[in-house]
Amino acid sequence: MVEAVTGTIRQPHQTWSNWPTFIMAVAGSAVGLGNIWKFPYITGENGGGAFVIVYLVCIAAIGLPVMIAEIMLGRRGRLSPVNSMVELAKDSNRSHRWGLLGVMMMLAAFLILSFYSVIAGWAIPYIGHAVSGAFNGATPKEVGGIFGGLLASPGQLLLWHTIFMLLTVGVSASGVKGGIERAVTILMPGLFVLLVVLIVYNLIADSSSFVKALGFLFDPDFSKLTADAVLTAIGHAFFTLSIAGGAVFAYGSYLERSTSIASTSFAIAIIDTLVALMAGMAIFPIVFANGLEPGAGPGLVFVTLPIAFGKMPAGQIVGALFFVMLVVAAWTSSISMLEAIVEWLQERGMGRAAASASVAGAAWLLGLTTVLSLNEWKEFHPLGFIKRFDGKTLFDLYDFLTANIMLPLGALLMAVFAGWIMSRQDTEDELAMGSGYAFWRILIRYVAPIGIGVIFVANLW
Ligand code: PHE
Repeated sequence: MVEAVTGTIRQPHQTWSNWPTFIMAVAGSAVGLGNIWKFPYITGENGGGAFVIVYLVCIAAIGLPVMIAEIMLGRRGRLSPVNSMVELAKDSNRSHRWGLLGVMMMLAAFLILSFYSVIAGWAIPYIGHAVSGAFNGATPKEVGGIFGGLLASPGQLLLWHTIFMLLTVGVSASGVKGGIERAVTILMPGLFVLLVVLIVYNLIADSSSFVKALGFLFDPDFSKLTADAVLTAIGHAFFTLSIAGGAVFAYGSYLERSTSIASTSFAIAIIDTLVALMAGMAIFPIVFANGLEPGAGPGLVFVTLPIAFGKMPAGQIVGALFFVMLVVAAWTSSISMLEAIVEWLQERGMGRAAASASVAGAAWLLGLTTVLSLNEWKEFHPLGFIKRFDGKTLFDLYDFLTANIMLPLGALLMAVFAGWIMSRQDTEDELAMGSGYAFWRILIRYVAPIGIGVIFVANLW
C-alpha cells in the first residue's frame, strides 16, 4: 500500500505557458556569463584538464541532484524561497528557521546581480567595437588596450552597468510570461549557433592550436590541482547551474505538477555544460595561437575572441552578433536572479514593477563598488590581512563569498532538507521519477552533503 503523502499540495499563483518554455527559462538562467566568461577564465587560472574533470564530476554527482531538489522545493512550497522553506519546514514539524536558508539564497542572488550587471555591461560596447571594425586586423596588444581602457574608466563602466540593469528590470517588471519567456526562446539558440561558428573557424584557421586547446581542456594533470581549485570547481558548478541563488527555486514555484523535474534538470545540465565546453573550445585555440596567457583572469573572453573576429571573414557581423548574444545570455540570467526576491516582495503585497525596480535599484547601487574596484579602488584589499584574500579587491571578494561560500552552503542545506528532513513519501510523490528516485536519494542524502562538506573542510586547512 502506498503511504499517504504528509505534505500539503499547493496550487501555483501563476504557471509557465508550457513545458518547453520552462526548460528555456531555466536554461536561460543557467547559461550566462558563468559559461562564457567565467568558466574559461577559471579553467585557465586553475591549469585546465584536471580542473575541468573535477567540475564535470561536481555537476553530475552534486549539481544535478541539488538542482532537482531546488526545483522540487520550489514547486512543493509554491512561494518565494523564504516562505516556501518556512511552509515546508512546518509540513515536517521543523523550525521556521529553515526560512533563513531562503534568505541566504536571496541574498546570494542579490550580491551576484550587483557585480554580474557590471561584467555583462562590458559586452555592450563590444557590440559597437565589432560593428565599427575596431577589431579588424587588431593585434593582441591593441585588443588588450581596448579592454584596459574600458576597465580604467569608471564613467563608461557605470553607463553600461546602468543600461544592463535597466534591461533587466524592463523584462522582469513585465512578468514571467510576457517578458522572460519571450526573451529566451528566440535568442538562446542563436548563441549556440555562433559558438559553433567560432569553433569551426578556429579549427580551420589553425588546427594545431585547436589541438593544443583540446589538450589543455581535456588532458588532466592532477598534480596541478589544489584544494582551492576543487572549491572553485564545486562553487562554479552551482553558479553555472544557478543553484542556491533562489532562481530555479522561484521558477520551480511556477511549474505545473505534470512536468518531470528530473528530466528537465538533466536536459538543462547537459545544455549548460555543453555551452561551457564550447566556449572553452572557442577561446583557448585563440589563446594558444596568439601566445596569450590562459590564466589572464576575468578579461580572457574580452581579449581573445576579438582577435579572431578581427581576422575572420564577416568578422564584423559575427563579432557583433556574438556580443549581442552574450548580453542576452547574461540578461536571461540576471532576470532570474531578481525573480526570487521579486516573488517574495509580491507576497508582501508589493506590485511587480515596483518590486523589480527596487531590488534592481539596490543591486545597481551596490554594483558601484564593483565598478570602482576595477579602477579607483583597485588597490583596496579589505581582507588583505588574511593570507588567502591578499590582493583581492571588493569584486573578487563578492565573487568568492557568493560562488565559494554561499552557494555551496545553500546547496548543502537544501540537500540536507530534501534528503533528511522532508519525508520520503513527499519527495517521491513530488518527483515522480520512477526507478531513478533511489539513485537521486543516495546522491542527495550522502554524496552531495558529504562531497560539499569535505571540500569545505579541506579548504579550511
Ligand atoms: N547561472 C548563471 C550563469 O552561469 C548565474 C546565476 C547564478 C544565475 C545564480 C542565477 C543564480 O551565468
